[in-house]
Amino acid sequence: MRVLMVTSEMVPLAKTGGLADAVAALAAELARQGNDVRVVMPRYYNIDLGDLERVEGPLGVPVGFGESWGAVYEGRPGDGEVPVYLLDNEQLFGRNGIYGTRTEPDFKDNVRRFTFLCRGALQLAKRLRWAPEVVHCHDWPTALVPVYLNTWERVGFFATTGSVLTIHNLGYQGIYDKNEIHQTQLGWEHFHGSGFEFFNRLNLLKAGLRNADVLTTVSPTYAAEIQTAEHGHKMDALLRHRAPDLFGVLNGMDYDAWNPEQDPLIPHHFSHRDLGGKERNRAALRKEFGLPDDPARPIVGMVSRLADQKGFPELCGPTHGSLYKICTELELDVVILGTGDAWCEEELESLASQTPNLKVQLAFDERKAHLIEAGSDFFLMPSRYEPCGLNQMYSLRYGTLPIVHRTGGLADTVEQYCAENGGGTGFVFDKLTPDAIFDSVGWAIWTWYNRPEHIEKMRKRAMQCRFSWEDSAARYLELYQWAIDRRLGRVARTE
Ligand code: ADP
Ligand code: GLC
Repeated sequence: MRVLMVTSEMVPLAKTGGLADAVAALAAELARQGNDVRVVMPRYYNIDLGDLERVEGPLGVPVGFGESWGAVYEGRPGDGEVPVYLLDNEQLFGRNGIYGTRTEPDFKDNVRRFTFLCRGALQLAKRLRWAPEVVHCHDWPTALVPVYLNTWERVGFFATTGSVLTIHNLGYQGIYDKNEIHQTQLGWEHFHGSGFEFFNRLNLLKAGLRNADVLTTVSPTYAAEIQTAEHGHKMDALLRHRAPDLFGVLNGMDYDAWNPEQDPLIPHHFSHRDLGGKERNRAALRKEFGLPDDPARPIVGMVSRLADQKGFPELCGPTHGSLYKICTELELDVVILGTGDAWCEEELESLASQTPNLKVQLAFDERKAHLIEAGSDFFLMPSRYEPCGLNQMYSLRYGTLPIVHRTGGLADTVEQYCAENGGGTGFVFDKLTPDAIFDSVGWAIWTWYNRPEHIEKMRKRAMQCRFSWEDSAARYLELYQWAIDRRLGRVARTE
């Protein structure tokens, strides 16, 4: 099948979170299964042109009151099979930041930037005379694509192209001043007509959710949760209405990049048959983060964006978090690697200065992320919501037992510990409160000291869990066919 992926992030070129991993892995797996997959994304300023080839001729993209011109580069990053086209435009992408920067978290011209991406991806396909059977878009930055397919591109080149929009995180919707609609070159009638209107503002994701032939999200539990008021981010009514076209497909994980038996980023290799290397990684982790060398104490690790979504208010909110209590009342060490919201960085640093067994590094660092997965005993993810989550899967693979809130993909991947027989793969709590986090960490630590045979058993089981992209890619292919059938009117779709 000919599949055009449009995305704002993809490893190894640009990444702020799991979206970048998921898109790269899915595209690679679809190609491996024999499909003709091509990716279009922006050429951000920090992407080195050295490894890329320039596609002949400039690309004209209708945006705002005229046309914006850009260059197109092609590459196959990571020595992969998948061609990636990068749209280059100095004015829109010639700066640091994917969506924004620290001082300007959401660039003022984002509607223009991502209109250029969405419309540009379609223009490029036409230029290449390569008509995709399906376009697969991801999150709000690419949500305009299905809108164009139903408007400017309803007939002609894309008449039979189905569209799939995957929600990786409903918390980010791309909401802007309504006058920005002029950037899309869609007239005012589309403000209501195509579903952009959201409390009198322009909501890009909402229009995509209205227009895509098929909607997916990245775990079955999250697919159900986003249809409720609690997790629907005000889109729940629309999503309930589109429920027959909405599917949850669990992300896989990359078992080559995250393989404790041959991971080049960790000092000692290990497997479920021989966990000796894990002990030595624990010692290396202690050293790296400046913890005393005390093998008898368990380590709880975290690698995360420091954002409300990840449960940091419950963990270290200035008035009610549980991290201080965890560090002072339990016999353990905690290491945290992350970057994100300023309040959270400050709070964590201040807590770390008061508690010698809490070590915090405010950095985005691939190697340290691998070391934490390999060297920790437990991995904490108290997310308020988690569409899928990758880190708990990495943790399972590295025998680092996840302690998680039962939500979204965490609920679908971590199995509760059974105190009777040592079953399960982690520790799961139902309601996210500071006390629940404290109690679950406490339970895990108690088990570590008092039931080491259960920990050992769980580790071995966790390391053998598999969340493969093979199955997920096969499921996506079925859904692509559904999308095409809907586009062709063979199956009615909800609007
Ligand atoms: P999200 O996309 O919501 O942030 P995921 O769990 O899906 O959550 O993906 C997060 C990805 O980003 C993982 O690959 C994780 O290892 C990585 N990551 C997050 N923070 C850091 C960091 N500070 N250093 C290195 N990797 C990080
Ligand atoms: C988002 C979600 C995360 C998910 C990732 C990849 O960033 O927050 O849970 O794993 O997308 O789909």
